[in-house]
Amino acid sequence: MNNLPRHIAIVMDGNGRWARKRFLPRFAGHKSGLNATRDIVQACSDLGIKALTLFAFSSENWKRPKLEVRLLLDLFVSSLQKEMTRLHENNVRIRFIGDLSAFSSKLQDLIAESEQQTAANTGLELSIAVNYGGRWDIVNAIQDISAAVLAGTIEHEQIDSELVSNYMSLSDLPEPDLFIRTGGEQRISNFLLWQLAYTELYFTDVLWPDFNKHDLQTAIEAFGRRQRRYGKTGEQVEGKEQNA
Ligand code: IPE
Ligand code: IPE
Ligand code: MG
Repeated sequence: MNNLPRHIAIVMDGNGRWARKRFLPRFAGHKSGLNATRDIVQACSDLGIKALTLFAFSSENWKRPKLEVRLLLDLFVSSLQKEMTRLHENNVRIRFIGDLSAFSSKLQDLIAESEQQTAANTGLELSIAVNYGGRWDIVNAIQDISAAVLAGTIEHEQIDSELVSNYMSLSDLPEPDLFIRTGGEQRISNFLLWQLAYTELYFTDVLWPDFNKHDLQTAIEAFGRRQRRYGKTGEQVEGKEQNA
């Protein structure tokens, strides 16, 4: 396949509705969604995608019923423990983005351990966004930048878009080329706000537990047909225009 996105970011949505359609508790949808996650990570790895970023738990998801939050976090811990070996064997490099300080020390340790264990891997760059919010990411960058200005390590005149990018999560990766949201909603829900500035957006009604590698293929093919203009004209991008 040519014209592969280097970096895909996914809002894995629709677990609750998947369960509801089957008269099952919402948690059954999350468990089933985990199977889809495993398959999509594998598919991206097999396709040779450089980076995959998954929205697993937003900074707003704490507003859900206490039991759902607890079950989600428990599922997160147990799946991380279970999946680590396979991910490592597949040469996947894993990291977590978001405000991790909200989590138990057990979970923080597990996160640190999985990042360290896979740090030298050279395959898929898998980033999991947990207790992540795009606004949190921006605020965090502003705090770090202002601290650096106060400490005198940077001058305020040096603050430009490139410098800000360097203070955001995932700054070492190419920005997402393709954003996928399953579950039918067409919104960003406070996922990567800064990083999505020129990302191609793709929405599908398929609920996350049903999303499989063929659906991924369809999204990648749709991406392949897009023309990314970054403000230029189509003619410039096609190289037909003088001074392109
Ligand atoms: C996405 O599925 C998973 C998380 C937000 C953790 P939802 O749980 O939001 O599923 P719907 O939107 O209720 O169907
Ligand atoms: C976004 O889904 C967050 C994740 C998939 C983790 P939500 O289901 O929380 O988003 P809203 O509330 O419908 O915007
Ligand atoms: Mg949802």
